[in-house]
This record gives sequence, structure tokens and C-alpha cells, in this order.
Amino acid sequence: MSSQIVSGTGNQSTEISMADFVIGSEPFYAPNGDEVEIFEAAWKQRLPILLKGPTGCGKTRFVEYMSWRLGKGRNRNPWPLVAVNCHEDMSAADLVGRYLLQESGTVWLDGPLTIAVRNGALCYLDEIVEARKDTTVVIHSLTDYRRYLPIERLGTVLRAHDDFMLVISYNPQYQSSLKELKRSTRQRFTVIEFDYPPIEKEAVIVARESGVDNETAERLAVLGSKLRSAQDETGVDPPSTRLLVYAARLIENGVSPRRACMTSVVNAITDDPVSTEAGGHIVSAIFPGE
Ligand SMILES: Nc1ncnc2c1ncn2[C@@H]1O[C@H](COP(=O)(O)OP(=O)(O)OP(=O)(O)O)[C@@H](O)[C@H]1O
Ligand SMILES: [Mg+2]
Repeated sequence: MSSQIVSGTGNQSTEISMADFVIGSEPFYAPNGDEVEIFEAAWKQRLPILLKGPTGCGKTRFVEYMSWRLGKGRNRNPWPLVAVNCHEDMSAADLVGRYLLQESGTVWLDGPLTIAVRNGALCYLDEIVEARKDTTVVIHSLTDYRRYLPIERLGTVLRAHDDFMLVISYNPQYQSSLKELKRSTRQRFTVIEFDYPPIEKEAVIVARESGVDNETAERLAVLGSKLRSAQDETGVDPPSTRLLVYAARLIENGVSPRRACMTSVVNAITDDPVSTEAGGHIVSAIFPGE
């Protein structure tokens, strides 16, 4: 794989170093099941993957870890990761590329998907369902036996590099009924389900990601678990592992545990005064007198 690509037409070009997309050191990732094995098997067969799960449960970290882990292999050393946060204004052109007007003329700029397809990167499209509908067209031909990207504006079709792999994420809890993944799209992907880990595992993650002692980490994990199981009664969002890590980091920096839990966890999941008070009681029970 070339370390530099040049995207451009005419006498202007834009250089992109693939080194910028490489995960340099091993990301910490605590598996919650057989997701690593499933990903590796899917990769060997060039099957696209859909990661399904709530916010802050480790999907992005998992993709970063897999990029690093598979990049250690002899033939893909390293394996760059092109990650894109999709949003409602994102169109196919944002993913594929566009002509830009510059002083010296018009220059073609590859979009992130094209960069990944051309160079054999792992491409992670986060919350693809948020993007405009025309993005499905470019994804469909990449995610079946054809493995090509139509670049309408260049009038060409780009065959995917053998090391190209597409991973998308989807959070079923947050989509309105208008924003569901089309059946014809989701049935192109192998689905790996994610969820928040059990207390012992979440405590390890919280300790490792923040530096707090094991006991504090475990109490934070218990808080996460209790607030999640109270979800049916309170109707508030379940707190993510990310929020528990935030609280732990505040504690590590001298904030009292109760205050840290209120600011980073309870206030982040609800605006309702009654739910906030109920959350406060749970916090006080776990961190009495702190
Ligand atoms: N299994 C895990 N191993 C290591 N760290 C984790 C794990 N799960 C969660 N974390 C921690 O939680 C944080 C949030 O995880 P991540 O960003 O991967 O969530 P996500 O599922 O991609 O969320 P979103 O849907 O909002 O993008 C990470 O930065 C990390 O600190
Ligand atoms: Mg993410």
C-alpha cells in the first residue's frame, strides 16, 4: 500500500498521507463477548459489519482496536482507519468527493469513503442512518459481491482495494421511525451487537480509563447498573460507560464522588427534577458521606 495518495485533476493536487489514519499504539479494549473473533472472521471473507448498540458502550474503541490488531498482520501493516461521524446534512458527495474551485482551477478532492476504498483502509461510518438517503446508493455497491464505488461526478467506478472494509454503526434506541436503516441496507451487513458490560468488566474499564482505584471504579459501575435497571420506572436514558469514565476522571482530579456522579452522570441523562432527585438518592446510597 502506498503511504501517500494524490487526489486531484489538472495541475493542482491534494496530498493525503495515509500515515495520518494509522492507529499508532494499541488502544485499550476490553471485549464483552466474541466480537473480536466475529470481526476477524468477517474480515477474512470481506464481509461488511454493522455495530449495533447504545451510545458510549465501546463501538468506536472496538473499531480502533481492530484496526490496530489486524494492522499488525504481515500483509496489512499498518491498517489505516478512516472514521466518519455521519450527520443529517451529510450527502453522498461528502463521502465520495467533490470538485473544489481553487485559484488555479478546479480540483477533485476525494471524500473519506473514496480515500478508504482507494487505499485499502478500514472505513467506519458512525450513525450512517443520520446521513441523507443518497448515501445508500454508494454503500450498496460496496457491500455486496461487486465491491465498487460509483463516482458519478468523475463518471467512473472505483474497484475497492482488497484491504478495504466497511463498518457502520447504528443505535436503534435513538432513531425516530423515519430514520430506520432500510431493510435492503441492513441485510448487507453482518451484525455485531453491543451493550454495556456487566459490573466487574465495566469496573475494569472505568479504572483503566481514569486511574481511579478499583473500589471507586466498582462503585461507579454499580451506579451505572442501578441507573440502567431503574430506566423502566424513571424513563431516563441509561448512562453510558463513557459517562462513568468521565465521573471517574473528575474524582481522580479531586472532585468529590457524589458531585462527580451528579455532574457527569445524573445531570447528563435527565433534565427532569424528580428523576434528578431519584438519581441523587442512588448516588448517595453508593457513595454515603462522600
Ligand atoms: N469495551 C471497552 N473497552 C475499553 N474502553 C471502553 C469500552 N467500552 C467503553 N469504553 C470507554 O467508553 C468510552 C466511550 O466508548 P466509545 O466512544 O467507543 O463508545 P461508542 O459506542 O462509539 O459511542 P457512540 O455511539 O456515542 O459513538 C471510551 O472512550 C472508553 O473510555
Ligand atoms: Mg462512537
